[in-house]
Amino acid sequence: MVDLSEPIEFAGITVKNRFVMAPMVRNLATEEGVVTDAVVQHYEECSKGQVGLIIVEAAAINWEQRIMSKNIGIHDDKLIPGLRKLADGINAHGAKSFIQINHSGLKGHGKTRYLGPSNIPVLKNTNPESITVDEIEDVKQWFVDATRRAKEAGFDGVELHGAHYYLLSAFLSSYTNRRDDDYGGSTENKAKFSVDIIKMIREEIGDYPLIFRMNGFENVTDGVTMEEGIEIAKLVEQAGIDSVHVSCVVDATFNPGLPPYFDKDSQPDFLKEYPYDSCIPIAQQIKPHVKVPVIGVGEVRDEKLVKKFSEDNICDLLALGRSLLADPYFVQKILEGRGDEIIPWKE
Ligand SMILES: Cc1cc2nc3c(=O)[nH]c(=O)nc-3n(C[C@H](O)[C@H](O)[C@H](O)COP(=O)(O)O)c2cc1C
Repeated sequence: MVDLSEPIEFAGITVKNRFVMAPMVRNLATEEGVVTDAVVQHYEECSKGQVGLIIVEAAAINWEQRIMSKNIGIHDDKLIPGLRKLADGINAHGAKSFIQINHSGLKGHGKTRYLGPSNIPVLKNTNPESITVDEIEDVKQWFVDATRRAKEAGFDGVELHGAHYYLLSAFLSSYTNRRDDDYGGSTENKAKFSVDIIKMIREEIGDYPLIFRMNGFENVTDGVTMEEGIEIAKLVEQAGIDSVHVSCVVDATFNPGLPPYFDKDSQPDFLKEYPYDSCIPIAQQIKPHVKVPVIGVGEVRDEKLVKKFSEDNICDLLALGRSLLADPYFVQKILEGRGDEIIPWKE
């Protein structure tokens, strides 16, 4: 059993309990990516609600390559003062503050260039360019620079966004990665982009807490298989990551551009114990293969499922997304045995 009220230590930090706020873009920054009071209040509220570790939404490492028009930016030193307010606000109420950093690649808002490993779109009406090796080198440095800014702003750590078919994720998946250079082909080659970034961060920034978010499994023809998900987790661990956050692509309705190979009725048995589209059973498969803490996520909406996660002894930390949007005090209510007072998320 995992006692979710217990602290956990990793990468030199102590998180006061096992509850994580999953990153969720909110479109609450300015059109220039500056953190606003609304952004700070949103995250402060969840810190007050006793979440142990907050992962701030995907911040753009390059402004053209953001997800939403009012994305948080981390692409310029000018943004550090706003980011500092955000980190301070989170830390003031006891949560550890992480920020996810991202290049939106094949997806994103009103971009002039959609970029991917190959010319394979995941969004309708886009015709992505295959990113060149020189451009890959630039992106690696943007990830390193963004990590430095997060550290200077006072965040306790960074999460690299390697999930959901954004740029790093698109390299990890054979559906989108058809390259025949050093970045395509074997799982090791497909992971090279992410692995190189992790190593560069270690060389240039040193021992700074780093989480890697990845699709552990993709219900997409030629997508990441369970075996590959395990392999990717091992590769990023070897490269120096401090924790793996296992997301996934199961429900095809969230990804209309991708070809799924099963639906709810024909899903593999190993997914069936949790609600459809939960990535927790996938994290469960990865957990025995790595030593770093594993974060599970997906579809946890009430006390009953929190209890099941704890009793199934699945992984080290539990991330909550939409449940915290519905009720920032979800965790506090669980910890105080007031689960019946939780305001539920409604689809
Ligand atoms: C509004 C919204 C925004 C999201 N933004 C991000 C994001 O910025 N980065 C990311 O990795 N996942 C993002 N996600 C996915 C969540 O982190 C999480 O994995 C997903 O919602 C499943 O967890 P849940 O069922 O507890 O909500 C987002 C989800 C939602 C609902």
